[in-house]
Amino acid sequence: MADRLIYRGNKILNRVVLSIVLFIYCAACAQADGAPIAQRRPRYELGRAPSAAEIAALDIDVNPAGAGLPEGQGTTATGATTYALKCAACHGPSGEGIDKSPRLIGTVPPPGFAFASDASAPKTIGNYWPFATTLYDYIHRAMPITAPGSLTSDETYGLVAFLLERNGIVPATMVIDAKSLQRVVMPARRYFVRDNRLGSPTFR
Ligand code: HEC
Repeated sequence: MADRLIYRGNKILNRVVLSIVLFIYCAACAQADGAPIAQRRPRYELGRAPSAAEIAALDIDVNPAGAGLPEGQGTTATGATTYALKCAACHGPSGEGIDKSPRLIGTVPPPGFAFASDASAPKTIGNYWPFATTLYDYIHRAMPITAPGSLTSDETYGLVAFLLERNGIVPATMVIDAKSLQRVVMPARRYFVRDNRLGSPTFR
């Protein structure tokens, strides 16, 4: 009985001691943890929050459905003027393409949609691009290649109108803006399917 009491006494004591040790250990951990985290994320006091104008200058993406298209408009006539001034030197006066600057106007043989079987077939706006909205996004983002981002939205809408009209996709009288551009259906649109594969298989 005495043995048993002593044993119980030790057991309680053990638990108390263990709790105290654990408490001290955890408190030390928290302290030690806090210090390295603060050191891992030091503040150098460099940089600053970007202004709304700076964010707007970078926030230029236009998706295939047309989300992101800005205010503004253009016609074939305004586009022809801008094209002659800022694009023709590289892409040719009639959009025929020069050296590494690709053809922008006119489809090229082979007819139909040969790209799956012939990787070398030239892809153009008229025979390959599935969305007209991408034309706005690409031109505004990347062209002229020597001064990307320099075109206004009106200039870009005009260029889009001009290139679509010269490719026989929209009438010359059409005013291109955010709303009308979303309604343009490209000739190659029907050859593309939505990629809804989840994991493999890669081909279908
Ligand atoms: C200094 C030469 C130069 C000028 C000026 C220029 N481009 Fe380009 N453009 C290129 C080159 C080079 C490419 C090919 C870029 C690539 O493949 O990455 C290209 C590609 C393009 C494409 C993609 C064509 C396709 O089917 O892949 C379009 C559209 C385009 N340019 C439109 C324009 C427009 C509109 C202008 C006038 C605002 C313009 N470019 C001015 C050189 C130029």
